[in-house]
Amino acid sequence: MKLTMIAACDRAWGIGRANSLGWHEPADLAHFKQRTMGQHLIMGRRTFESLPTTLRGRTIHVLSRSEDGNGLNIQAAIEVGHDNGLSEMLVAGGGEIYRQLEPFCSHAEITRIPGQFNCDTFMPNLSELGWRLFAEKLLTPTLIIEFWRKV
Ligand SMILES: NC(=O)c1ccc[n+]([C@@H]2O[C@H](COP(=O)([O-])OP(=O)(O)OC[C@H]3O[C@@H](n4cnc5c(N)ncnc54)[C@H](OP(=O)(O)O)[C@@H]3O)[C@@H](O)[C@H]2O)c1
Repeated sequence: MKLTMIAACDRAWGIGRANSLGWHEPADLAHFKQRTMGQHLIMGRRTFESLPTTLRGRTIHVLSRSEDGNGLNIQAAIEVGHDNGLSEMLVAGGGEIYRQLEPFCSHAEITRIPGQFNCDTFMPNLSELGWRLFAEKLLTPTLIIEFWRKV
């Protein structure tokens, strides 16, 4: 099963501020919806709670260490994918989750948000970790989707 990180990052790999996104990019939100529809997503409890709406049409596996029984750990989330015979799960943040799941991921799809947004949360700099940028696609005249692979 392929694990793919999906994220929007500013040029400093910032992904958010004050538990929300630091920008408003409707085209990227539409891209996220289209790319994730029908898919299984792994996300941290803080990101899950920051969602403005429920993500209909997607199956979300929320990671949490709380003892109320609703959260999964990393291994349990990945096992759900194997148990269901999935070909891919999407790792959808936030910062803690990208950092901990990066070693298990082979692909990443990054919407590059132009500029720098004084973020307080980051995803790992994939270039520094030895990943390779192998393709780019224009989403809008100013937004690029970067396709990364672990070398
Ligand atoms: N730009 C993007 O594409 C994008 C995407 C997603 C999120 N974000 C942004 O990222 C920020 C949130 O990221 P964050 O780093 O603060 O939080 P996060 O990664 O969304 O969630 C952290 C929480 O996940 C749980 N967790 C972490 N490691 C775990 C493990 N090993 N096992 C089980 N549970 C675990 C814990 O929940 P408990 O506290 O319940 O134990 C922890 O508090 C927000 O600003 C959000 O807007 C941006």
